[in-house]
Amino acid sequence: MEVRQFRYSADNLGYLVYGEKTAVAIDGGAVENILSFVEENGLRLAYVTNTHSHMDHLVGNQPLLDRTGAQMIDYDTLIYGSSIEIDGETLPVMQTPGHTRDSVCFYFGRVLLSGDTLFNGKVGRCFSGDAEGFFHSIRKILSFPDETLVYAGHDYVEEYMGFARSLEPDNPHIDTYLEKYDPDCVVFSLGEEKKVNPFLRFNDPGIIRILEEKGLSAESPLERWRSLLSLM
Ligand SMILES: [Fe+2]
Repeated sequence: MEVRQFRYSADNLGYLVYGEKTAVAIDGGAVENILSFVEENGLRLAYVTNTHSHMDHLVGNQPLLDRTGAQMIDYDTLIYGSSIEIDGETLPVMQTPGHTRDSVCFYFGRVLLSGDTLFNGKVGRCFSGDAEGFFHSIRKILSFPDETLVYAGHDYVEEYMGFARSLEPDNPHIDTYLEKYDPDCVVFSLGEEKKVNPFLRFNDPGIIRILEEKGLSAESPLERWRSLLSLM
């Protein structure tokens, strides 16, 4: 299986995961570009699905369904099915509640499609999920290898590196990260995220010190996570 990123609206990122013949659109708002890619590559769009139910991620669903023979895979199907089959290969789905109660990530090989759970440089806001559930979702993601490529649901890289820099002005990895930033293909490894993304570093002594200096609770990993969320 391979993955292709499709940008749409101001900063949304959607994806096509495809095998030799079959493709699944995940947050497929870039309808025309996705359909062109499918046609040019002799693929069949078999499934349409989403990382979570926020409207900006769903806008492509109906047009893609109307214009192909694709089948919708909704959240209920994802949680009970827990994987999607593509040309005999399995695309697993991981429950990652926190940004929303229905947030999921998809992963295969070195690829993680993280939706609005984990952005490049930050994490999503905690909307219909709860902070503790979100913490456990992020810990699941942190258990993936550092080589894992994080493909997120939005491109907020420049804004979020501004946030990271305001927190840690002397972090030398932020410049390196920004040098690598490419708006035409927004992806960083989990290892790179761990060097700059404050929300993945609730156990980092530097981050703990910053939280303490701000008078925020820093006693346990979960408390530090909550404190970090309060800085958004
Ligand atoms: Fe969202």
